[in-house]
Amino acid sequence: MSDKKASLSIDGLDEAIDLPVYSGSIGPDVVDVGGLTAKGMFTYDPGFVSTAACESQITYIDGGKGTLLHRGYPIDQLAEHSDYLETCYLLLYGELPNAEQKANFENTVRYHTMVHDQLTYFFRGFRRDAHPMAILCGVVGALSAFYHDSTDISDEKHREVAAFRLIAKMPTLAAMSYKYSIGQPFMYPDNNLSYGENFLHMMFGTPCEPSNVNPVLAKAMDRIFLLHADHEQNASTSTVRLAGSSGANPFACIAAGIAALWGPSHGGANEAVLNMLQEIGDPERIDEFVARAKDKDDPFRLMGFGHRVYKNFDPRATVLKESCDEVLAELGIENDPLLAIAKRLEQIALEDEYFIEKKLYPNVDFYSGIILKAIGIPTSMFTVIFAVGRTVGWIAHWNEMISGSYRIGRPRQLYTGHTQRDYVPVDKR
Ligand code: SDX
Repeated sequence: MSDKKASLSIDGLDEAIDLPVYSGSIGPDVVDVGGLTAKGMFTYDPGFVSTAACESQITYIDGGKGTLLHRGYPIDQLAEHSDYLETCYLLLYGELPNAEQKANFENTVRYHTMVHDQLTYFFRGFRRDAHPMAILCGVVGALSAFYHDSTDISDEKHREVAAFRLIAKMPTLAAMSYKYSIGQPFMYPDNNLSYGENFLHMMFGTPCEPSNVNPVLAKAMDRIFLLHADHEQNASTSTVRLAGSSGANPFACIAAGIAALWGPSHGGANEAVLNMLQEIGDPERIDEFVARAKDKDDPFRLMGFGHRVYKNFDPRATVLKESCDEVLAELGIENDPLLAIAKRLEQIALEDEYFIEKKLYPNVDFYSGIILKAIGIPTSMFTVIFAVGRTVGWIAHWNEMISGSYRIGRPRQLYTGHTQRDYVPVDKR
């Protein structure tokens, strides 16, 4: 923390208020406004556009430069050279693992991938056409009913085993929600497979024949999980932190994060992008939709464009765009019509004055759906895939908060309702 300060003069107050200013290792300074309460004032920042809610050392984003660092490592280098579980280790423990640490971490995850057999009965309670995010919300929240041995959040070992269980079981539960929707039997995880391979095995394998997962698709799946692993204090991660600040158990906190991620402005955007591209249907109609996105009176937004922080390319979108070409080429899907519409839409938007002026660039959700569709994953599962990848980020932030000093999150408000008034009996109204 630095010894800099801000001096705030407020009409009506005789003296200026001195507020400490802190500097991070990189990024904007922050003004500590805690002293305002003593002066009978709050800050006002709907949507937390200018609010640093916590101190963290996990992920850094520079929205102007389009930079994303996980514990200091750039996302494009991790996408190129690392894999999802190694990135999980990095996010959780702060350093890249050596060979032994990496092998032990992978092995521990491997032996937590099965779920308690009683959990299968939870699925039976859902309609077959239930949205898989609804199922995931419910089943992940229920995990706390199965692991009484790891809900003492003050115990570091309890927190660690909860992290392993969540990272390991999310793919299993995600695949189960898909299998349930198509009436096929659940597939058990196969301990001989890597994380991405295992997920595709559980999604598309059947008990009738051995799985034969395409290694290119398995690598693409792993990279998609990696690119979604963490993203600083986004809406769902902030939800996990707020839930965790009350002392709730980690499974309940992750279920809260899943619920927040589901919205189309956040993780639900990847599903919305595919639905939008299918609605556009023909490159000739792109101009019509771009015009709608610019029309203040039309609630339509170009899904997969824009970001609260990135006012440049989302570096994850850049990596995903390259992966798109690789996966479609591997599958022999030349001239995928949706990809053609996406690329044309991107080109038009990036040349359009409205998008340039508002700094609206493609975000992580713009290309991910095209790859997931090419792999054969149904649109309704796209946000579930996002949740699987983001689980490690949610847990890393939850653990960083719980293992440090924290207080229950309890924002205040600007009240503009009625001043006090007396009750009026019904015969006098
Ligand atoms: C994710 O926070 C994270 O890090 C999230 C995420 C993560 O990894 O966790 O990166 C994942 O959620 C990515 C974002 C996915 N959502 C979408 O693609 C949905 C479409 N995008 C928007 O709804 C919007 O851009 C947000 C929600 C992403 C950001 O919203 P902000 O920061 O609150 O910005 P805003 O809504 O105030 O928009 C600023 C202006 C507005 O115009 P004015 O009122 O200033 O005239 O830009 C316009 C908006 O109308 N605008 C868009 C637009 N996005 C913003 N106009 C058309 N199409 C869009 N997509």
